[in-house]
Amino acid sequence: MTDRFYCTTPIYYVNAPPHMGTGYTTIIADALTRFHAMTGKKTRMVTGSDEHSQGIADKAAEAGVTPLQFCDRLIPEFTKAWELLQIGDYGFYRTSSPEHRLTVQTVFQRIFDQGDVYKADYSGWYHTTDNCFVDEADLPEDPESDPRLKFLTEEAYWFRLSKYQDFLLEYHQAHPEAIVPDFRRNEMMNRIKEGLRDLCISRSSTDWGVPIPWDKDHVFYVWADALFTYMTGSGFDVKKAVENLEKGQDPLKDQPEDNFWPCDLHIMAKDIPWFHTVIWPAMLQSAGLPLPKQCLVHGYWNFDGTKMSKSKGNVFHPVDAVALVGADGVRYFVLKEVRVGWDGNFSVKGLAERYNYDLANDFGNLANRLLTMGGRFLKRRIPDTTEFHEAEEELLEIRAEAIHSALHHFPRVEFKEGLEAVWEVVRALNRAIDERKPWEMNKDPERRGELEGFFRASFECFRTILMLLAPVMPGAADALWEQCGLPGKATESDLNSAQERHRGEFLINKPQILFPKLDLADLEAEFVKRKSEMTGETMEATEKKAEAPQSTETASSTIQYDDFTKVKMITAKVLKAEAVEGADKLLRLTLDDGNRQDRTVVSGIRKFYSPEDMNGRMICIVDNLKPRKIFGILSEGMILAAGGDNGQPIVLVTPIAELPPGTRVG
Ligand code: MSP
Repeated sequence: MTDRFYCTTPIYYVNAPPHMGTGYTTIIADALTRFHAMTGKKTRMVTGSDEHSQGIADKAAEAGVTPLQFCDRLIPEFTKAWELLQIGDYGFYRTSSPEHRLTVQTVFQRIFDQGDVYKADYSGWYHTTDNCFVDEADLPEDPESDPRLKFLTEEAYWFRLSKYQDFLLEYHQAHPEAIVPDFRRNEMMNRIKEGLRDLCISRSSTDWGVPIPWDKDHVFYVWADALFTYMTGSGFDVKKAVENLEKGQDPLKDQPEDNFWPCDLHIMAKDIPWFHTVIWPAMLQSAGLPLPKQCLVHGYWNFDGTKMSKSKGNVFHPVDAVALVGADGVRYFVLKEVRVGWDGNFSVKGLAERYNYDLANDFGNLANRLLTMGGRFLKRRIPDTTEFHEAEEELLEIRAEAIHSALHHFPRVEFKEGLEAVWEVVRALNRAIDERKPWEMNKDPERRGELEGFFRASFECFRTILMLLAPVMPGAADALWEQCGLPGKATESDLNSAQERHRGEFLINKPQILFPKLDLADLEAEFVKRKSEMTGETMEATEKKAEAPQSTETASSTIQYDDFTKVKMITAKVLKAEAVEGADKLLRLTLDDGNRQDRTVVSGIRKFYSPEDMNGRMICIVDNLKPRKIFGILSEGMILAAGGDNGQPIVLVTPIAELPPGTRVG
C-alpha cells in the first residue's frame, strides 16, 4: 500500500466539444480519485488536451484561425462539462504548453542518445482523423476517395519499437496486473507476438507540433508527444531524472516532494491500449524511466444502439445527460449500468428507468422515509443507543458486509459490483421499515426504546451508505449528509474508519427531495426539444426525425380538419427580447398576446435573430401548446418559423400587415 494515487484519462482531441464517451472515462477517473482521497491518500488526477493532431490543424484552417486559437476556444467546453459532471480536483495539461515541450524533448533526446532513433524515408497513407499511418492491409480499395486519408512522402525519424518485442512480452508476462481486464491483456500479448514494427515519430510537412530537439525541421508525430503529458502532469522532474541516469543513478532519486511518477493507472477505452501498453512502455524503457503500473481498458458507450459519432449526429452530450437525470444520476448510471470493460448504451428511456428504479424509488424514497419518520417520531433527535432488536443487529451485519465488499471492489475499478453491495443495505433498510413498522412502535409508549434502537441502527446504516456513495455521487451524498445533521461532509469522511459507528446523536433535518420521480413521456419530449435548441432546428423538424423510424404515417398522410383546428395559432407582439445566458441558441421573448403583456416564450432562433431584430416585431405563435421548461425558463407557447433543416436558416413566419396581437391565425 502506498500513500499516493495518481491516475489519468487520455488527453482528448479538442476538435469538437466533449460527449458522454469522454465523460465516462473522466467520471471513472474522478470517482476513483475521490475514493482514494477518502482513504487518506494523496491523490492526483490528470486529463488534458491533445492538440498537435492533423485533424485539429485542418479544422482550424477551415475556421480561419491558428490551431492554438482553435484549441483555446474549445478547451472551456471541456472544463465546463467536467464541472457539470462534478469532476473534482484534476490537473488539465495541454500539449501546446512549454512545460510539456520540455518533458517531450528531454526524454526523447535521451532515447535518441541511446541509439533508439534513426532517420528514414516514409511513404504511405496517413489517417488524419485517427492520426496514424494506415497499413497496406487496412487500406480501402480506393484510398483517394476517402478525404481523411492523405498520401505522404517525407523524411522521418523512427523509434526502434521492434527492438522491444521481447522486453514487452516478458514485462507483461511478469506483470499480469499491468493491463486490465484480462482479455485486453491477452489481445495485446497476441498482437505483440505477431511482431512489432518500428514507429514513425516525426513529421516534416507541418510545423504544428513539438519540435524535435536535434533537428528543427521536424516536429514529433502527435502520438509520440501526447503520452508524455502523463509525465508532465505528474510533477516528475525529467531533467533531474535524466541527469541521474547519466550518472548511473536511480532516476527517482531527489524527485520533488509532490512527484507522482510512476503513474498508478492510465484509463482509456478499447481504441487506444496499443499506444499505452506497447508504445509507451517501450519508449520509457528505452529512456530508462519507470513504467506506469496499470492500464485499465474500458468499453464504448453507444447512443440508442449505435456508436456515438459526430457524423451520424447521435452524440450524447454531458449537458443533455445532466439535464435529464442530474449529475449524480448520470454518474450513478454509467458506473452502475455496465461492468467496467464492457460496452454500454445510452438511451433516454434507459437513463430514466435506472434513475426511477434505483434513485427515486429505492434510495430517494429511503432517505425521505427515514428523515420524515425520524423527524416526526423522535422529534429529530436520534439518540446514541445500542439497544438493538435482533432485526437491527441483522441490519448492522448487512452494513458491515457491504463496507467490506465496497472497499474491496471500488479500488479495483469494479464500481458496478461495489454499488450492488451498497444497494444491499438500501434494500435491507427499505425492507426493515416495511417489516418493523416504526409507525406502530410509535403508537406504543412501551416500545419507545425499540423505536429509538430501530432509528439509530437505520441511520448508522444510512450514514454508511452516504460514505460509500460519496465517490460516485458526491453532490447527493453531501446534501443528504447535511440533512442527517452529520458534521463535515460525506466526501471528506474517512473510509478507513467506515466500520466504526457514529458517536453522539444525529440531529436530523427536514428531508428535501433530491430524486423526484421522472415521467418518461415528458422526458423524451424535453430531450427532443433540447436537441432542437442545440442544433438550431425547428422543434418540428427534430421531432419528425426522432419519430421517423417508429412512425407508421407516410409523409403524404393527411389529418382531419378537426385535428388541425385543435392547434390554436395567434399573432403576438414582441415587447422584449433577451439572450438566454449559457444557451447560445436561445432567446427569451416577452410577448403581448392580446390577453397578457407578460407571456414568455423561449425560442431557438438566436443564431438567426438578435434581440434587437426581435424587439417590437409582430410574430405568430402556437397559443395552446402545453407550457414546458426550457433551460429552466417556463416557455408558454412556440413561435412559428420555417426552415432550420439540414443547415438551412430559420426564417420567422410573420403577418405581412400589422394586426392586433391575439388575432387568430389559421
Ligand atoms: N488524443 C488521443 C489520446 C491520447 S492519450 C495520450 C485520443 N483522443 S480522443 O479524443 O479520441 O479520446 C479517446 C478516448 O475518449 C477513449 O480512449 C475513451 O477514453 C474516450 N471515448 C471516446 N469515445 C468513447 C465512447 N463512445 N465510449 C467510451 N469512451 C469513449 O484518442
